[in-house]
Amino acid sequence: MCGIVGYLGPRQAYPIIITGLKRQEYRGYDSTGVALINNDLTVYKKKGKVTELEQSLIGIDVSAHIGIGHTRWATHGEPSDKNAHPHQSASGKLAMIHNGIIENYNQLKQELLNKGYQFKSDTDTEVLLNFIEEIQLNNQCTLEEALRIALKRVAGAYVILILDENNPDTIIAARKGSPLVIGIGKGEHFLGSDATPMLEYTKEVVYVNDYEIAIIKADELILKNLGNERQTPYISKLDLELAAIEKGGFEHFMLKEIFEQPITIYDCLRGRLDAAAGTITMAGVQKYILELTSANRIIILACGTSWHAALLAEYVIEELCRIPVEVDYASEFRYRNPIIAQGDVIIAISQSGETADTLVAIEKAKEAGAIIFGVVNVVGSSIARVSHAGAYTHAGPEIGVASTKAFTAQLVLMIMIALKIAKEKSSISHQRYSHLLFELEDLPQKVEAILKNADELKVIAEKYKDVSDALYLGRGYNFPIALEGALKLKEVSYIHAEGYPAAEMKHGPIALVDEKLPVVFIATRDESHGKIVSNIQEIKARKGKVIAIITEGDEIIPGMADDVFFVPPADEIVAPLLSTIPLQLLSYYLGVAKGCDVDKPRNLAKSVTVE
Ligand code: F6R
Repeated sequence: MCGIVGYLGPRQAYPIIITGLKRQEYRGYDSTGVALINNDLTVYKKKGKVTELEQSLIGIDVSAHIGIGHTRWATHGEPSDKNAHPHQSASGKLAMIHNGIIENYNQLKQELLNKGYQFKSDTDTEVLLNFIEEIQLNNQCTLEEALRIALKRVAGAYVILILDENNPDTIIAARKGSPLVIGIGKGEHFLGSDATPMLEYTKEVVYVNDYEIAIIKADELILKNLGNERQTPYISKLDLELAAIEKGGFEHFMLKEIFEQPITIYDCLRGRLDAAAGTITMAGVQKYILELTSANRIIILACGTSWHAALLAEYVIEELCRIPVEVDYASEFRYRNPIIAQGDVIIAISQSGETADTLVAIEKAKEAGAIIFGVVNVVGSSIARVSHAGAYTHAGPEIGVASTKAFTAQLVLMIMIALKIAKEKSSISHQRYSHLLFELEDLPQKVEAILKNADELKVIAEKYKDVSDALYLGRGYNFPIALEGALKLKEVSYIHAEGYPAAEMKHGPIALVDEKLPVVFIATRDESHGKIVSNIQEIKARKGKVIAIITEGDEIIPGMADDVFFVPPADEIVAPLLSTIPLQLLSYYLGVAKGCDVDKPRNLAKSVTVE
């Protein structure tokens, strides 16, 4: 959470920082600020989105060749001008931006208050900055030295960038637990929480590691550990184009990303699946195939939408591989005392690869001796790097805060992993294996066909835009999709929604049903079709409104539902992927119809790097 950007070099820093912040607004967008040095250190900051700060600075001379910028997701202190970053030290000479949480900030603050410090904001960031300055003044040492001493006292997660008016050619940065990417240009450097601020300038980047400090000048990058030892920067090549992070003619990133799914699913399958040859090639899985096939148990850890992908994966792996699977919220796993036994394999699913709870949970499991397998979208992210092995979902950058294309790519990848293990274990018949490979191969064109009918969902959304609650029901493989449909609706339209296994309805949620409540059924044709038809009847008998996602050719449900949307026929294991698409579109159109900011829903951030 929170996006950070920095630049130093021959170009004007301000436009690079503002553009970079706009690209990182998915990380938080409740306040914005920049600090620039042009002889003097100047800070401009404001509650609100990046464009609001930009508007307020029209006509002001913002020329500078060095600067840092921040887009915030509030943790300590409400969104306000005073709590916006950058913060300045008591002397006014230092400015700092921060992504993360300083857990012991209260203790540090008390020490500083005892020494007479006063604070202008409610943030942990201002405390840390003054703590660093206090050490510098006390020890008469360099800022770098003071930072090193300070960080040894700090508990929590951080990426910080500091500007020092007395050293106007240097940015000092440090990282632990939150991401920091440094772009290497010719006589210039770019900094970001991800690589998007530097895309048009360089393809060479360094991912800073935990407990490293970077001393950055226009033509020099020095990395050191907290023991003051020089580290060799490892330069990676970026495989990301500017077009991938632009709206490409769509009104919102969310819509663009929903419509990209035929391609992203194809990209996830490409080079891996060969249905005709009957092969799935995944080097990461192959590397640990013995451990995977002989695992006593697989534990899948994730949060939010990725947790829904994990739940579907549980159903699929248990069915195809006959290996017991447990799915846990990473936030719960990390704080309880889970049993990790010899032979357990942990799979972490994460779009961003930076979710703090998931990251810490796998670090804990790794320490306990488990094998960690990462299913991650963002290349080079922390979870990908901590994992022993893994596979990228290859969905490309997901900018809309509500996850769409990353989710379907996670499902595709997890089904491929299950199939690969099942084949190796011989727990699947050759016929079923081959059938599912072809089913996966057909997915992009089926998704394409669904998207052609997107307007039907717009019409349905118009009809229901004034409801205050909704219920999502599905059985078996469709239950995780009911959860995901409900989450998507809540996120982008602020309509309260709950997902339940359809059979659980009778154990409580049915009390909610009246003539105003829409109930969304994921009712594609499978073995439980007859049962879900009965559930629909039960809702209709209580005058509830039924919206049903059903398989083409279904002649029963259209006769009883208020609204239906058809998806192409598919095997029950891949059908949930198809049902996901109309639910994403329904949420999107409802959010738009209600005038919500679907790309940046209130209170959310894409990359949850705080616990
Ligand atoms: C919902 C959404 C979140 C994320 C969750 C985990 O649309 O995007 O629920 O799924 O914050 O994030 P990742 O997958 O990046 O670990």
